[in-house]
Amino acid sequence: MQSPQFFVVDDPTAYTQRAIAIMRALADSAIAQRGCFRIALSGGATPRPVYAALATAPGIDWPRWELFWSDERTVPPSSLESNFGMANELLLEPLAARGIVPGRVERLQGEIEPATAAANYEQTLRTLDGNGTPRFDLIHLGIGGDGHTASLFPHTAALAESAHLVVANVVPKLKTVRLTFTFPLINAARNVLFLVNGESKAAALQAVLEGPRDIAQWPSQGVQPHNGQVTWLVDSAAAALLTGAAFATT
Ligand code: 6PG
Repeated sequence: MQSPQFFVVDDPTAYTQRAIAIMRALADSAIAQRGCFRIALSGGATPRPVYAALATAPGIDWPRWELFWSDERTVPPSSLESNFGMANELLLEPLAARGIVPGRVERLQGEIEPATAAANYEQTLRTLDGNGTPRFDLIHLGIGGDGHTASLFPHTAALAESAHLVVANVVPKLKTVRLTFTFPLINAARNVLFLVNGESKAAALQAVLEGPRDIAQWPSQGVQPHNGQVTWLVDSAAAALLTGAAFATT
């Protein structure tokens, strides 16, 4: 695994533009090498401004972008809880209004029986690079205050999954089931981009990056791509408790 890259950007507009610049550079490289850019998006609040700005960003070769999701709630796409629904509202519909359609959009079916939805998505993913574990050019992730990423929550069964690429994960503390990428899929990625903002993430970020290795308690520690680059794009509030010199303030 390559050494992680760390960037601290505080101005919200500069942060959003930096996130898009990172995505665009990875897309240009992937498209040049393989003809397409395969990206998995996350949900939550942090990426909202990034998706909204991406809808009008210049220099995006959308017909070559293949959009997937790294996790989904067990709700229909019309739900306010839906990760696809959020990206559809902020990114896909504004693009469509400009006559732009990404090359591929594959959402997780949050509206059907979770194990079936996970199996369906895994079947689709396994067609991407033959029948093995597909390599995403970029998996965008966030982290929760409890150190979860995607829908890999502390002390949940999905953390131990070593065969399946996508599972239905029971999350007792949320009293729900979530659909999520597993570590075997995430750790096959060429690139992972963590977008982490705000004081509420400072303790988790410090534990994940500088605390003892305890993936059960801090699942984001399990993101260790075998042959991939992890990039952290954070603000100084989220980085406030870090002691390492790793963060280059930009
Ligand atoms: C989800 C996300 C989840 C998210 C973190 C951070 O389904 O909610 O995929 O993993 O990235 O919970 O969420 P915020 O950006 O809202 O803090």
